[in-house]
Amino acid sequence: MVGRTPENIVAYRPMRDGVIADYRITEAMLRYFISKAMGRFQFFKPEVMISVPAGVTSTERRSVVEAAIKAGARAAYVVKEPILAAIGAGIPIYEPAGHMVIDIGGGTTDVAVISLGGIVASTSVKVAGNKIDQSIADYIKKHLNLAIGDRTAEEIKIAIGSAIPVEEEMTYEIKGRDFLTGLPRTAEVTTNEVVEAVSDKLQEMVRAVKSVLQETPPELAADIIDKGIVMTGGGSLLRNIDELIFRSTGVPAYIAEDALLCVAKGTGVALEHLDVYKRSIVAKR
Ligand SMILES: Nc1ncnc2c1ncn2[C@@H]1O[C@H](COP(=O)(O)OP(=O)(O)OP(=O)(O)O)[C@@H](O)[C@H]1O
Ligand SMILES: [Mg+2]
Repeated sequence: MVGRTPENIVAYRPMRDGVIADYRITEAMLRYFISKAMGRFQFFKPEVMISVPAGVTSTERRSVVEAAIKAGARAAYVVKEPILAAIGAGIPIYEPAGHMVIDIGGGTTDVAVISLGGIVASTSVKVAGNKIDQSIADYIKKHLNLAIGDRTAEEIKIAIGSAIPVEEEMTYEIKGRDFLTGLPRTAEVTTNEVVEAVSDKLQEMVRAVKSVLQETPPELAADIIDKGIVMTGGGSLLRNIDELIFRSTGVPAYIAEDALLCVAKGTGVALEHLDVYKRSIVAKR
């Protein structure tokens, strides 16, 4: 609905940049999901586990727990996203060995080194899928004089985007509004144009990865070279992003199976095995 609503309908994004942007709407969304998950058992108040970005502040964390309780949870547990992404990607997080996870979502890119169930080094930058879409829209505005919405930019990224230039380019026919005439018009964009459009944003992600590698103790760095970097989140589905990470850090990277669902899956696993994972739980109420 975003970008397509008439005057009497407003499309909200309850979360932005990985944290609650609109408390009231977030609570309503949680209430809806809880009710959906409970099905026939609407009278029970469930335990809820929620993932939060690793760099979340205590205030942000508290408001997440409060929103869940208000929405009908009996208890709410909060776990840092990189830990859950790692669990969802099948990484044995309690081993005394270093694993690096890069989780590229819509709002944030989280980079973390995990060992013995905890985060040893991490950073979180507010550059991820949404900023990439924005940079594609900006590029098309500047170079093709065409205004496009967020959704179209995302479609272009998914259909033909790449993190590094390719030899066999794909093309995409964009439909948008001409800046000068104000009239609808179509234009064509190619893969390597998208690469150019998004490269600055990708470099910001690469810098984040490098900064975490630089903070990683040598023993764990050795483990990471052996095992490779694991990438999760929808943003890691951008073509060749694993290759970009490898080329710019020298460490092999690979995309986790079901990358888009790793955090959700990991959250489910952690909630089912609360006793095992309680060491990784940040806050509880
Ligand atoms: N095939 C694809 N290629 C590139 N990007 C994709 C693809 N599929 C999904 N995405 C992008 O993945 C992002 C959403 O990923 P994900 O669901 O992991 O984010 P999120 O967990 O909701 O966000 P955050 O972790 O920041 O809170 C969107 O920006 C979307 O455009
Ligand atoms: Mg995410």
